[in-house]
Amino acid sequence: MARGRHASEAGRPSEERTRHIFSTIASEYDRFNKYSSMGLDRLWRRTTVRLARLRRSSEVLDLAAGTGDLTLALAEQGRPARVLSTDLVPEMLEVAKTKVAVYEGPTTIEFDVVDAQALPMPDESFDVVTVGFGVRNMPDRSANFSEVFRVLRPGGRYVVLEFSRPLFPPFRVLYHFYLRTVIPLLGEKLTGDRASFEYLNESILSFPGQVALAGELHKAGFSEVTWRNLTFGIVAVHVAVK
Ligand SMILES: C[S@@+](CC[C@H](N)C(=O)[O-])C[C@H]1O[C@@H](n2cnc3c(N)ncnc32)[C@H](O)[C@@H]1O
Repeated sequence: MARGRHASEAGRPSEERTRHIFSTIASEYDRFNKYSSMGLDRLWRRTTVRLARLRRSSEVLDLAAGTGDLTLALAEQGRPARVLSTDLVPEMLEVAKTKVAVYEGPTTIEFDVVDAQALPMPDESFDVVTVGFGVRNMPDRSANFSEVFRVLRPGGRYVVLEFSRPLFPPFRVLYHFYLRTVIPLLGEKLTGDRASFEYLNESILSFPGQVALAGELHKAGFSEVTWRNLTFGIVAVHVAVK
């Protein structure tokens, strides 16, 4: 019990922490992602794009886009009309811009520094909103869910890719061991910043499970919420329909 309380305290996000962590690790973020997920992050993003059910005419807002991997997957795989790629931390978006510079497909990709908890966009301005591994870092998740509901057009989809709860208890124990031991070591090796990776782990461990997250999305007004577990529930993709 005490351990649980400590974990949620240690993993509690704050804007200051987010800015510090992601501006510090921006240049190494992609390498860390690739090694820590053993390449699975690409598959997780692919499924996320499929569940977005994009059309050629779709206008998409990618929140907490970071170094742009989900933005690029949306453009390359889904080929919507437009993706607005946004993040709170400019250093992360600068990496995204260099990657998108070589994209030659039909999608218009634009960037903006935006706090996903207070969106500057007008009501009903997007068909799809996506977020990959970003919601966990927001101190006010419910503000984000309400804001996304506001900017989505009727029938629009909010597609949330996030770490979740592995369903099979023995596997969960192994996974938590991996999070608490391997990830801080790998983070320290690649970026020299062990503390940030300890925080990231705690934020995973204290994040709500599949059912609880779906409940929060319902509470924000979404009419239909479903999810798909990937890699035994290490991550889940929730789809909330306005
Ligand atoms: C783990 S990275 C995920 C990046 C990318 N979506 C991906 O799939 O690799 C989390 C990102 O969330 C961003 N972030 C955290 N809080 C945010 C907020 N309130 N508004 C917008 N972005 C935020 C961070 O700056 C960081 O780039």
